[in-house]
Amino acid sequence: MGDLILNITDQTTVPVYGITETDLEAYLASAPDFLRGFVALNEFKARASQVLASPGPSGAVERILFGLGDGTDPTVFRALAAKLPAGDYELKTFPASLDPDDIVLAFGLGGYRFDRFKSGSVARPRLVVPSADVTAAVSIIRACALARDMINTPASHLGPLQIETTAREIAAEFGADISVMVGDDLLAANYPAVHAVGRAAAPDRAPRMIEITWGSADHPVVVLVGKGVTFDTGGLDIKPSAGMRQMKKDMGGAAHVLALGRMVMAANLPVRLSLLVPAVENAISGDAMRPGDVLNSRKGLTIEVGNTDAEGRLILADALTRASELNPVLTLDMATLTGAARIALGPQLPPFFTDDEALAAEITACAAEAHDPVWRLPLWKGYVASLESDIADIKNDPDAWAQAGSVTAALFLQRFAPTTAWAHFDIFAWNPRNRPGWTSGAEAQAIRGLFRLLRKRFS
Ligand code: BES
Ligand code: MN
Ligand code: ZN
Repeated sequence: MGDLILNITDQTTVPVYGITETDLEAYLASAPDFLRGFVALNEFKARASQVLASPGPSGAVERILFGLGDGTDPTVFRALAAKLPAGDYELKTFPASLDPDDIVLAFGLGGYRFDRFKSGSVARPRLVVPSADVTAAVSIIRACALARDMINTPASHLGPLQIETTAREIAAEFGADISVMVGDDLLAANYPAVHAVGRAAAPDRAPRMIEITWGSADHPVVVLVGKGVTFDTGGLDIKPSAGMRQMKKDMGGAAHVLALGRMVMAANLPVRLSLLVPAVENAISGDAMRPGDVLNSRKGLTIEVGNTDAEGRLILADALTRASELNPVLTLDMATLTGAARIALGPQLPPFFTDDEALAAEITACAAEAHDPVWRLPLWKGYVASLESDIADIKNDPDAWAQAGSVTAALFLQRFAPTTAWAHFDIFAWNPRNRPGWTSGAEAQAIRGLFRLLRKRFS
């Protein structure tokens, strides 16, 4: 995706004028009569993401006018990438209220397409943005495209083994160490919950625990944990077809932490980074875990499986226990964990959970600065009792009286998470609505804000 952004200006480009609603009149005052008439004819008002291609005497496009609305939101440039015809463009004007780095990033994210299974290739527009840090932006654009490609790839083409392959490629690119425990080796290595969730899958889709380690051992340890369920049938508590339809995306957390890890390594941040990815398929077979089963966990707590469809928290329990063994100063986990998160906040606003007030404030601030919104929800202690099991230490399906499913899932994770700074993100990882710049399908959420946070905390 990096080739959407040009940093060379020695070729012919079509000029693009980014114009706010209030600046439109001034812009037209010094424009040729033809353009004034053309703008009026086409009702170009410089509303956010409005595009007007104006022809020159030959009939070819001579300039592009791009509406910026009130000029405060750089993400409108996502729509520009989606709306422009293929060709090379150069951004000539934009208000001082916008950061050129944010513009480059938005254009790169907005031009994303998933065309792996489409025959033929479609040429894309490219944009020169003067005085932008293109290298930094392209690293983020690439990482987000990687996450989105993984999420969009169906389970037929992406199982636990393909997550491992991608993790190995990333580790090799940045000289990181990687270890992978597969299948029954998970039992000897003490990942019993990861094994239990993934053991019903076909042998070539065996469960695995992927651990990447990068950076100097002298640096503070940061651990990123991602839910890697490559398909969630629900298990024996099988999902109805509407709910199962999108469950190829249930490895969204894994894709997100691999992408965020890639940004951290590419920027060479002074941290000791661990990426922990339990990768499984929640499948159905004679060997599947059953409702009512009791599992052991890496931590030693026993878990009653009240519902085989609450599988994400089971694999994350073992991964978060592993995280605490690494003595982290900061642990972040990301997971498409509950349908309830979407009911609470909708698809565009992932909730996050932490009891660390300073961390919460920093996450909120960095998310806003990165135009990558998140919303804090509470680890409400009043609902802890909903996870009490009659026969085990904890159960994975909270009592109905607690209702807040995203909160109770987070409370479940908290039992296993490190006691040092920890935040959990219940992401949706998907655009259900198709609009220019936010194409329907996979979306990368929260990682641009988190990258900003990591850069601030550790540099
Ligand atoms: N992967 C799902 C959650 C999900 C569903 C995320 C739809 C995004 C869209 C998860 O494994 C799940 O099935 N959760 C259950 C938990 C319940 C059984 C306690 C849920 O949210 O219904
Ligand atoms: Mn499930
Ligand atoms: Zn799931």
